[in-house]
Amino acid sequence: MAKKLYIKTYGCQMNVYDSERMAEALGGQGYEETASPDDADMILLNTCHIREKAAEKVYSELGRFKGLKAEKPDLKIGVAGCVAQAEGAEIMRRQPMVDLVVGPQSYHRLPELEARAGGGAKALDTDFPEEDKFDHLAKRPKANRGPTAFLTVQEGCDKFCSFCVVPYTRGAEVSRPAQRVIDEARDLVERGVREITLLGQNVNAYHSAGAGGDWSLARLIRALAEIDGLARIRFTTSHPNDMSDDLIEAHGTCEKLMPYLHLPVQSGSDGILKAMNRKHTAESYLRIIERLRAARPDILLSGDFIVGFPGETEADFAQTMALVEAVGYGQSYSFKYSARPGTPAAEREEVSEEEKDERLQRLQALLRDQQRAAQDAMVGREVSVLFEKPGRIAGQMGGKSEYLHAVHAHAPRAGRGEIRKVRITESAANSLGGVLV
Ligand code: SAH
Ligand code: SF4
Ligand code: F3S
Repeated sequence: MAKKLYIKTYGCQMNVYDSERMAEALGGQGYEETASPDDADMILLNTCHIREKAAEKVYSELGRFKGLKAEKPDLKIGVAGCVAQAEGAEIMRRQPMVDLVVGPQSYHRLPELEARAGGGAKALDTDFPEEDKFDHLAKRPKANRGPTAFLTVQEGCDKFCSFCVVPYTRGAEVSRPAQRVIDEARDLVERGVREITLLGQNVNAYHSAGAGGDWSLARLIRALAEIDGLARIRFTTSHPNDMSDDLIEAHGTCEKLMPYLHLPVQSGSDGILKAMNRKHTAESYLRIIERLRAARPDILLSGDFIVGFPGETEADFAQTMALVEAVGYGQSYSFKYSARPGTPAAEREEVSEEEKDERLQRLQALLRDQQRAAQDAMVGREVSVLFEKPGRIAGQMGGKSEYLHAVHAHAPRAGRGEIRKVRITESAANSLGGVLV
């Protein structure tokens, strides 16, 4: 009988992709995925270390498995992801029931670690090995799958923003060879995928040498656009400084590249940007947005913001609000600064919790208004929707527009993976409704 694997994923899309690949790799050890921890033979938490709250969640989650482990001593409990990388053996000291700890660059060693762990034996691997984990991970099996997929093309980060743990948990920037990415994309399309989101902590820093010289992200996107059956391409997350001319141009010329870009700025104050080691200014960010909009006027922009970075004054914060006003975001993610051990910013004096709370509320109110306005502006327009699943009402299908808005429409004969024109007729809190054209 197959053993059961329960994976819970926290953090960014790269973890989502990694979890899929880990499940496939453990398939070779006789594991099948289960949706519940109760009947699992192995529990794997794929964790995130980006903010303190995210990292602490792991320990409360582990606490909940205590009873299960007591009932079932053979149950193996593993911690993967960025907390595993950052804390390593410390996790087993804090939670002795953890059998296995594996960092993001060592997932190809997971089957071997799994075999070693359990029955009191511990297995730990947080190396940054030379080999590419994806070359050694089990190949994705030839099963059909949903119409959208993530595909990691680049990992790690060399930017060292002063608040961020990613350069430490994911290591230096590494890009996968273009041909491997293209082969994997072809394989996904053969299995029913119509939309691929290329992933990287710094995806637009993608560069590889290979067949026909150097590959940039823009060149990779153009090559992927040649794949018949692949209808949509997206990429995330980008850094403003790697928003090269050819990538901006691709937004205007490559039809399969969707008009949506997540381009984090973090702050609108040049003083804070400098202290964050972002190496760009508010003005240079705004110029990039201007050029993107010149290339693709309808592009929908999304951003990340941190409030209450050490030293942020009310005047600095006002500049963040002004930048948000100037850009007009269709989607956004905003956070209170969280000091992370080992990062340079953690040494500095913090803004008070009350000020952080108050600023976050003001920023989120503005961002919420912008998001709603961008959504409401879709009413009356025709969008194309990639249907992913039936909606809540009989005959309804739900999916995403090219702008990544959730859209539902009455489409009883439309199948999963079909792309149809929809005229938007209503805008609700978190989704749009429409009718087939
Ligand atoms: N590579 C991406 C994002 C990585 S982390 C980029 O460069 O933009 C995702 C987001 O988490 C960041 O954009 C930032 O807004 C937020 N973040 C990162 N570290 C943080 C910290 N210490 N406190 C609060 N938010 C943080
Ligand atoms: Fe973190 Fe900055 Fe790298 Fe993004 S660019 S992952 S925020 S260090
Ligand atoms: Fe979190 Fe690691 Fe992603 S810290 S955001 S899971 S790269």
